[in-house]
Amino acid sequence: MSAELLAYISRRKNELGAVIMAHYYQLPEIQDAADFVGDSLELARQAAVTDARVIVFCGVRFMAESAKILNPDKTVILPEPQAGCPMADMVDADGLKRLKELHPGAMVVCYVNSSAEVKAESDICCTSSNAISVVRSIPADREIIFVPDRNLGSYIQRETGRDMILWAGCCPVHDALSRREIEAQKTLHPARRWWFIPNAAGGYSGADAVLSTAGILKHVENSPENEFIIGTEEGLLHRLRKNSPHKKFYMARSGFSCADMKLIRLEKLANAMETLSEQVDVAHDIRQKAMVSLQRMLQI
Ligand code: 13P
Ligand code: SF4
Repeated sequence: MSAELLAYISRRKNELGAVIMAHYYQLPEIQDAADFVGDSLELARQAAVTDARVIVFCGVRFMAESAKILNPDKTVILPEPQAGCPMADMVDADGLKRLKELHPGAMVVCYVNSSAEVKAESDICCTSSNAISVVRSIPADREIIFVPDRNLGSYIQRETGRDMILWAGCCPVHDALSRREIEAQKTLHPARRWWFIPNAAGGYSGADAVLSTAGILKHVENSPENEFIIGTEEGLLHRLRKNSPHKKFYMARSGFSCADMKLIRLEKLANAMETLSEQVDVAHDIRQKAMVSLQRMLQI
């Protein structure tokens, strides 16, 4: 069955002149069917340069929206319309406008895990890979509002020494990792290296390194160490094992999984390519403003 679906997806991709992009948190079968797999920053960069007519985006809605913002004339398909991001839903444009009124001189940095409307109200976007560079690019005398991830925001504050006004959102998947679980894993695997992404709750002070999703991959590949505790969503294990088949990985907690990221299956992907739905669209005025924030990020 999988072989038939994969053959159909490949045939249809050629017919459509499409490219399939997938986030590292997607199911292994989807990552394997994709032409390009990456973290949010790599996917945004790829979406900005692709010459494919159709982008099939296997991820969550805000990612497909970013691809559409960067490619208004292309067809962008999200194979599962229900694939949202609970953290992106924790901030809306009206709430952000009200906060901006209280801090009229502030620059707004928004994690790409946010809606197009929120990006349109922001000055610059960032991802977990480039958040520190983005914040460092802002003049020292400007106030900064950071939305929506308070965990990523606190980490940036600590690393850059910049005081920021933090929105109180978080990724429920990463926020659920408790200090107790971290300590238990470290006791269980004392000799292992411990890698962590900054979106997670405050426990990262015990990490050997705090790295973005793509950063974890790179460091594991280049490290002389052989065993690692991974403090992010379990989808990353597929690529970690592919890149470093002789190394061992332990998840920081069991059930470290984003339900929205796991909604797309091969059947849904094939069906979306057949019906060309759901097509993601972003209103023209929102798109124009959100594009500025995304492009400022891509220039850094
Ligand atoms: P990055 O792709 O920026 O590492 O983000 C992690 C994440 O939670 C994506 O939804
Ligand atoms: Fe959103 Fe967290 Fe899922 Fe990423 S892992 S899509 S931030 S809920």
